[in-house]
Amino acid sequence: MTKPLEAVRILDFTHVQAGPVCTQLLAWFGADVIKVERPGTGDVTRSQLRDMPDVDSLYFTMMNGNKRSITLDTKNPDGHDVLEALIKICDVLVENFAPGALDRMGFTWEKIHAINPKIIVASVKGFGPGRFEDCKAYENVAQCAGGAASTTGFRDGIPLVTGAGIGDSGTGVHLALGIVTALFQRTRSGKGQRVLASMQDAVLNLCRVKLRDQQRLARGPLSEYSQFGEGIPFLDTVPRSANDSGGAQPGRVLKCKGWETDPNAYVYFILQSKVWDRICKVIGREGWSSDPDYAKPSSRLSRLDEIFHTIEAWTVGYTKFELMGILSKQDIPCGPVLSMKELLDDDSLYASGTLVKVDHPERGEYVTIGQPVKLSDNEVKVERSPLLGEHTDEILTDVLGFDAERVAHLKASGATGHKQDPVGH
Ligand code: COA
Repeated sequence: MTKPLEAVRILDFTHVQAGPVCTQLLAWFGADVIKVERPGTGDVTRSQLRDMPDVDSLYFTMMNGNKRSITLDTKNPDGHDVLEALIKICDVLVENFAPGALDRMGFTWEKIHAINPKIIVASVKGFGPGRFEDCKAYENVAQCAGGAASTTGFRDGIPLVTGAGIGDSGTGVHLALGIVTALFQRTRSGKGQRVLASMQDAVLNLCRVKLRDQQRLARGPLSEYSQFGEGIPFLDTVPRSANDSGGAQPGRVLKCKGWETDPNAYVYFILQSKVWDRICKVIGREGWSSDPDYAKPSSRLSRLDEIFHTIEAWTVGYTKFELMGILSKQDIPCGPVLSMKELLDDDSLYASGTLVKVDHPERGEYVTIGQPVKLSDNEVKVERSPLLGEHTDEILTDVLGFDAERVAHLKASGATGHKQDPVGH
């Protein structure tokens, strides 16, 4: 079986999360991903949030599987030449340095394009062209600048960020789509191009329903937000909507059995209008089906608090898993609030390849995310992340075709690591 991206060679000049997540996805689709890292330290995440001394962190290992690592000081003249040689033979260069860093290294788009006119240069930046274009960015910067924070949290509380990596991983996924699209276009045009995914743009794209609501707000209050039913006036901007559903079917997080001691004994319950009669029946309020105060979605809007309190008085008698059984049998949309511990212990996620156990020579076995997008013709073998510089010799020799003398010279110059005596003393 061939891989969808077999024969695509990626020069992975990424670090932290947004870039590495993108190139890991491409590796799972079969691309040969060559990660270029600074000698000595490598990707900064190798040593961040370590759970074991002197061992690559889970932060690093979970975002860099299925890649090869070469150490290269690109500011060393010989290292610079090696990077140039890699640019010549790669299909894509992916980077997520701070604005201008690649240029300062001597690799402007014009220069890269001149070295290899077919190469695609894909970048993650905090912001696109505009007032913040020179700014660095991290996950929560993007969540704030992309509109997520102002719309997340409780109405009377401060803006909140979510634990989901929508700014980092979310942007990486956007970039991956841009890269494969540019590769597809190249099959017809024969030309490379630049691909930019800004973290602010990616978060805003993911927050598009809130941008929708901002425009609706100009024409009247947002009736599906709890505050409408509670009679609290709207200001001129989309408010934080707590756990209200972002669509036309109202929803809330409700307590389940055990909530007093278990912080995740909750279920998300959706009042899908087409199953309203079944909801009334299952919670023992059949009368609501024909009562004009409750029968129509519009009549329920001003009573959502009362309705959800009544439903909660019922959900609290069952565990979230019992509720999933009862409600899904009735085709009532709902979701258990699952903890990370519960997810890590979920056998079905291992069976589907979403979670995978891999072995690492220094840390032993660890669990990592597997390919979240499944293709019927792409069997993914998730592999561990590389050790720092593990494939340096292999890449110099097999990929670039350098002879032993040139490899020895590179080592002696410090281009691929700490300076070594050329004769090995
Ligand atoms: N050899 C030599 N130098 C190298 C190197 C190598 N192999 N790899 C990196 N460097 C240098 C870069 O050239 C840069 O040098 P310069 O500042 O002298 O130009 C330096 O390392 C650091 O790069 P930079 O990207 O500026 O790192 P930082 O730690 O200052 O900033 C970020 C980190 C994440 C804030 C920044 O990279 C950024 O904003 N990136 C874009 C958005 C993004 O991806 N954010 C992170 C999401 S997870």
